[in-house]
Amino acid sequence: MNEIIQIIKERRNTKNFVDKDVAKIDIETLLDAAIWAPNHRDTQPWRFVVIDKESSLRDKISEGIISVKELSSGKKQTDEQIESIVKYVQSRPVLIFVFSLIDSNPIITEENYGAVCCAIQNISLAATSMDLAVGWSTGKIAQIQNLTEMFELKEELKVVGVLTIGYPSSQQSKQRIDFNEITSWL
Ligand SMILES: Cc1cc2nc3c(=O)[nH]c(=O)nc-3n(C[C@H](O)[C@H](O)[C@H](O)COP(=O)(O)O)c2cc1C
Repeated sequence: MNEIIQIIKERRNTKNFVDKDVAKIDIETLLDAAIWAPNHRDTQPWRFVVIDKESSLRDKISEGIISVKELSSGKKQTDEQIESIVKYVQSRPVLIFVFSLIDSNPIITEENYGAVCCAIQNISLAATSMDLAVGWSTGKIAQIQNLTEMFELKEELKVVGVLTIGYPSSQQSKQRIDFNEITSWL
């Protein structure tokens, strides 16, 4: 099979990682792949915040997730729940918060979002080719309030996803509906 098609099919959204550091140069390679994604009007709308293993912001991220959970459930998190969130955030390998530029024209905002999704796919495919893997989350970690302030970003941005990047320990196999069933040739 053609190498690119093989990587496209091998890429899996990944949640479980081994305890092995990812080299900074590899993260740079992934970000460089990201910025070659298509983007209309040359807006280059992607913005990245990399949180490495040593980042002091991991505590703030844990606090942010706790707040999101408390707001959505209307209940205080228990000590065990807090401990499990802190442990989870500390144990993640590299985290990349990926943002997209918001424009005063909603059509451009939507085009920008599409471009940033392509950039994330570039990261995922490049990672697969390097024996790394990516988990894309729009869950609680992506819903933390005032993320742009926390990261001191000055532009108007929306979160497209929070990526966990590391060496996979396990991956789920996935199925797809055959393209013939969802395609009309007219
Ligand atoms: C926009 C977007 C948001 C996603 N958010 C989450 C998420 O919050 N949590 C999660 O476990 N997976 C998330 N995923 C990953 C999908 O669940 C995953 O791609 C899907 O299960 C198909 O698996 P595969 O990517 O391994 O083929 C997201 C994917 C996309 C494109």
